[in-house]
Amino acid sequence: MNGTPAPDNAASQGGRGDRSPGQALQEAAKRHMWLHFTRHSSYANADVPIITRGEGQYVYDQHGKRYLDGLAGLFVSQIGHGRVEVAEAASRQAAELAYFPLWSYAHPRAIELAERLANYAPGDLNRVFFTTSGSEAVESAWKLAKQYFKLTGQSSRYKVLSRTIAYHGTSHGALAVTGLPDIKIPFEPLPPGGVRVPNTNFYRAPEFVADDVVAFGGWAADEIERAILREGPESVAAIYLEPVQNSGGCFPPPPGYFQRVREICDEYGVLLVSDEVICAFGRLGYMFGSERYGYQPDMITFAKGVTSGYAPLGGMIVRDYLMEPYLKDQTSFLHGVTFAGHPVSCAVAMANLDVFEKEDLLGNVRSHEAAFRATLEKLNDLPIVGDIRGDGYFYGIEMVKDKTTRETFDDAESERLLRGFLSHALFDAGLICRADDRGDPVIQLSPPLTCTQEHFDEMEQILRSVLTQAWSRL
Ligand SMILES: Cc1ncc(COP(=O)(O)O)c(C=O)c1O
Repeated sequence: MNGTPAPDNAASQGGRGDRSPGQALQEAAKRHMWLHFTRHSSYANADVPIITRGEGQYVYDQHGKRYLDGLAGLFVSQIGHGRVEVAEAASRQAAELAYFPLWSYAHPRAIELAERLANYAPGDLNRVFFTTSGSEAVESAWKLAKQYFKLTGQSSRYKVLSRTIAYHGTSHGALAVTGLPDIKIPFEPLPPGGVRVPNTNFYRAPEFVADDVVAFGGWAADEIERAILREGPESVAAIYLEPVQNSGGCFPPPPGYFQRVREICDEYGVLLVSDEVICAFGRLGYMFGSERYGYQPDMITFAKGVTSGYAPLGGMIVRDYLMEPYLKDQTSFLHGVTFAGHPVSCAVAMANLDVFEKEDLLGNVRSHEAAFRATLEKLNDLPIVGDIRGDGYFYGIEMVKDKTTRETFDDAESERLLRGFLSHALFDAGLICRADDRGDPVIQLSPPLTCTQEHFDEMEQILRSVLTQAWSRL
C-alpha cells in the first residue's frame, strides 16, 4: 500500500511484535479485507474465518481446526484440495510461458484445452471462447448472441429469458440475467432485456400441477413459450437455464422439460444457453449437465470446476453455426479480456481433467449418488426438513416451519434461523455448506467428487445435530 497511512492503519502495522502471527492476520483481515456478499458487521465481535490449507475433502482454519468441505469451496473443488500434480502443472507452465493474450494469438495449452472441451461437449459445440469467470462467460454469451443476430439480419433480438431466483453472476449484464431482485435493486438501472420465467421448484408447484411432475414440467416449459410470445419472438435472443438450478436450493428439471424447451427454442429461433458454471465437470456425474438430461444447448457457459479452483478460468462452448458469420470478411467478435484463457489456468485445467480421467470421478459420482441421496434422506425424520432435492453431488435441503402445510419461515424467523444460528453452528460443527434464503430457506451441499459414504455420513450427522438444535430454538 502506498501513500500516507491513516492513523489506525499505522497502529495496525505497528506493534505486530506483541501479537501472534495469527492475531495479526485476523486484525489485518478485519482492517483491510472487503469480503464478497458479506455483512461485515457480523465480524465486529467475532473472528473472520481464515482458511489456511486444504487436503482432500477437508480444509483447515488458522487454528488448525478441520472442516469437511461440503460445498467444494463455492461449487468449485471437484478433485478436492492439495493435489500436488495440479500445482506442479501450474508451476511448469508459469516457467515455460506465464502469459500471453488470446487477442490474435493462441498458445498450446489453450488450444489443447479447447479441443478437449469440444470433444467432451455434446453435438457440434466445437468453439471455445475463454473468459476468467462465470459472470464473464454469461455476459459474453449474451454479447455473442446480440452480435450474431445483428450479423444475420435479426437485429431486433436482444432480450434474454431466465428463471425466477436463478443466479447467473454479478457483473451488470450477468445481473440483468440473474433472477434475484434483492441483489439487483441496489445497482439499477441494469441493461434492458432481462425477462423472467418460472423455475422448476416442484415442491412449490402451482396447485393445478402439484401432483404431477411431468405436467408441472410441461407447464413450466410452456410458460417460456408464453413469455416469448408476450415479448415478441423477434425481440428474444436467448434463454439461460442451468441443468439444475442452484439458487433456491437445487431444482432438477422435471422429465421432458428440456426437450420441450428445445422445441420452443427451435420454433422461435431463440438460443438455448445452458449455464453450467456449477453443473459441468462431474457435479451431476457427467462432463456437462446437458448430457445428463439429454438436451442439445446452443451454448454452454462454464467456469468453477474446469480447474477445480487451482486457477481461475471460465468460458463458453458454442455450436459451429454461431461462429459462421464471424468467420467471414472483416467481421470479428468485438469482445475480449486480458486474462481469459490464461496459460497457467489452461495448464491447470488440463491437469485437473487428467485427474478426472485417471480416477474416474464421473464414475465415482454415478456409483455413489444414490447412497448420497439415501443418506441425506435419513434427515426426513426431522420436523424442520421439508424437502431434499437434487441430483449427482448437488443437493438442497429446504427447511420449513410445518412439514404438513409446507409453511415457510417469515423474514424475521429466517434471519434468526439462518444468519443468527445455522451458518455459524454448521461451521462450528466442522461442516462447510451454505445456508441460504434467497428463495425459501435451504441448506446446500456440493462436495468434492471424491467423496464416499464416510463423508456422506459425516454430513448427515452434523446436519442432524445442528438442525435438531435449530428446531428447539424456534
Ligand atoms: C449458474 C452460475 N452462473 C454464473 C455464475 C457466476 O460465476 P462467477 O462467480 O465465476 O462470476 C455462477 C456463480 O456461482 C453460477 O452459479
